[in-house]
Amino acid sequence: MKKQTQSIRIQVPKSHNREHSVPLYLTSSFTFEDAEQSKAVFADEIEGNIYSRFMNPNVDEFVSKMCVLENAEDGIAFSTGMAAIFASMAGLLKSGDHIIASKALFGSAIQILTKITSKWGIECTFVTGSDLDAWKNAIKPNTKFMFCESPSNPGLELIDIQALSDLKAGKDIVLVVDNCFATPILQTPIDMGADLVIHSATKFIDGQGRVLGGIICGKKELIQEIRFFARHTGPSLSPFNAWILSKSLELLDLRMQKHSENAMALALALDGHKALNVVNYPFLPAHPQYELAKKQMKYGGGIITIDIKGGFEKVNAFSKQLKFITISSNLGDSRTIMTHPGSTTHSKLSIEDKAEVGITDGLVRISVGLEHIDDLIEDITQALNKL
Ligand SMILES: Cc1ncc(COP(=O)(O)O)c(C=O)c1O
Repeated sequence: MKKQTQSIRIQVPKSHNREHSVPLYLTSSFTFEDAEQSKAVFADEIEGNIYSRFMNPNVDEFVSKMCVLENAEDGIAFSTGMAAIFASMAGLLKSGDHIIASKALFGSAIQILTKITSKWGIECTFVTGSDLDAWKNAIKPNTKFMFCESPSNPGLELIDIQALSDLKAGKDIVLVVDNCFATPILQTPIDMGADLVIHSATKFIDGQGRVLGGIICGKKELIQEIRFFARHTGPSLSPFNAWILSKSLELLDLRMQKHSENAMALALALDGHKALNVVNYPFLPAHPQYELAKKQMKYGGGIITIDIKGGFEKVNAFSKQLKFITISSNLGDSRTIMTHPGSTTHSKLSIEDKAEVGITDGLVRISVGLEHIDDLIEDITQALNKL
């Protein structure tokens, strides 16, 4: 069965009510026939749900679908994308280990790597993601983790995932890819040699800005270790959010095609506008990694960035002129959103660190939604024309 069909058809077994749409299992715990059965389930002698901190039918359904889409052996869901990122490190690393990470990461991931894992003696070297020599030169005998986002938030820098996987071949290093911007519809990092794939399910996986969630998919033995950490520390996804996210996956393929089609058309329409320094989008030929984007990704994705001449003052003026596009820090919504990363999601970075990953004062991230493309072009160009 094709993955697209499975992402629609995988479902918790029907109850005696023979419902078509899966019910919500909003329950903290599950019951047993007798003490003997409860003992056997706890001892893993027979299968059965125990307690929703670590197993729940709605959560399991969501994880099963994501594993199919990512071509992963196993997976585990979390309350947020950040909980997933943190659990990947807390579950697999120990004091004395070394991480190599690309500089172009979501702001909170940088905070974890500079201020939290460092407290436990886990050192991190940041490299320019597109510089393969830098990754190679940063590898040390105690390197255990390579961590990257592709495309990155917000700079849309790509990582050559296959090349990174080749670099660490034969070494005891786990390659982790945050696949939040691409989703498994655009790229499947595991097929390119990644060991683990992480998502903020809050973004395109939900697709309508309703719930928070996160997930890690990948090699069974790695997921088992992370599962031990998660079972006993409790960063669990709520069954309600899992129910929403699982339903959302039924339309992910269609949505990602449309987000990408709208984003491409918008990028082309804005390219060359006199109020802009640059328009950035992986599938624009001017993107510095256009060839890699075409090789690695099926479509260009739903995010474009524009660099408005005149910095924050002009960005603010632009935001005031928008008629319906929303100003928010989220992305991956059916409704188009503008964000100014330099003063919001990445505001904790120093000016130098921002400059290194292309976060200028004029940079605006546009999460291109599913509205009619004519309306999107009209709203943004009328706002730019007034600057
Ligand atoms: C690339 C990326 N990874 C991780 C996260 C964190 O996800 P969450 O907000 O679900 O914790 C975000 C959030 O914006 C993100 O953009």
